[in-house]
Amino acid sequence: MPADDITPAGVGAGTANIARMYDYWLGGKDNFAVDRESAEEVVKISQGRVLRGVRLNRDFLGRAVRTAARAGVRQFLDLGSGLPTRENVHEVAGPDARVVYVDYDPVVAAHGRALLATSQDVGFVHADLRRPGEILGHPTVRRLIDFAEPVAVMFVSVLHFVDDADDPRRIVGEYRDALVPGSHLILSHLAKDDFPDRMAATERVYEGASARLGARSREEILALFDGFELLEPGLVGPTEWNAPELALSAEKFAGLVGVGVRR
Ligand SMILES: C[S@@+](CC[C@H](N)C(=O)[O-])C[C@H]1O[C@@H](n2cnc3c(N)ncnc32)[C@H](O)[C@@H]1O
Repeated sequence: MPADDITPAGVGAGTANIARMYDYWLGGKDNFAVDRESAEEVVKISQGRVLRGVRLNRDFLGRAVRTAARAGVRQFLDLGSGLPTRENVHEVAGPDARVVYVDYDPVVAAHGRALLATSQDVGFVHADLRRPGEILGHPTVRRLIDFAEPVAVMFVSVLHFVDDADDPRRIVGEYRDALVPGSHLILSHLAKDDFPDRMAATERVYEGASARLGARSREEILALFDGFELLEPGLVGPTEWNAPELALSAEKFAGLVGVGVRR
C-alpha cells in the first residue's frame, strides 16, 4: 500500500500534530510552533498535569515492558509508538528481545527507522493500527514476531485517538485473537471520569489537530481487556501501577494504565 494512503492529516507545519505535541511535553525537539501552541493550551487546561502525566505514562511503559520480559515475553509489538524518546521498548526489553514499532505518522516513521530500527531484532512499520490484518501480515512483523510464542501488544496512549466508529474493542480483539496464552496487553488510555470538564476542553483543542482526541470512561477502557486477565493492581492511575516509590503520591491524572495476560 502506498504510504500516502495512511498519512494522517496535519503532518506539515500548519496543523498541530499529536505526535509532535506529545514530543513537546516530553521535552523533545521534534515539534513546530503550531504544535507548541496547542500543547501549551493543554498545559493550561490541565494546570500543568499533562507534563507530569506524559512522563508517568512513559515510566509505566518501561515498568510494563520489564514486567512482561520477566514473565518470559521476548516479542513486543508497539502500536502508535510515537517519536523516539528515552527508554524505548527495545532498550528496556533486553538484548534478546524482538521489537516492532508501528506508527501511521510519516515523520515518526522516518525518525523511527533511523533511530529505533537499528538492529536486526528491531523493525519499524509505517501503518495504521486500525487495520490489524495488514499489520499482523506485514513482512517485517512476520520476520520478527513468531505468533506461536507469547507477544506483548502495546497500545500506550494511542487508543484515545481511535474513534468509536472504528470500534477500538474490535481492533484490540483482532490482535488478541492472533495471540497465544501468556501474551500480554499493555495499555494506557485517557479517562474522563475524574476530570470531565478539563477533558472536554482538551478534546476541543484537538479538534484542530491531526487527530481528534476522545477520552473514554473507566468502564469502556476496562472492556478493552476482554479476553485478558488484568494483572494486579488492575486498571489504575500511573502512580499506582507497581511503582512503590510513587504510591504515597496523592496526585491524580486523567490516564488509566493496565497490563493484561491472555488466558
Ligand atoms: C501520544 S503518542 C504516544 C506514543 C507512545 N506510545 C507513548 O505512549 O509514549 C500517540 C502516537 O500514536 C500514533 N497514532 C495515532 N493513531 C494511530 C493509528 N491509527 N495508527 C498508528 N499510529 C497511530 C501517533 O502518530 C502518535 O505517534
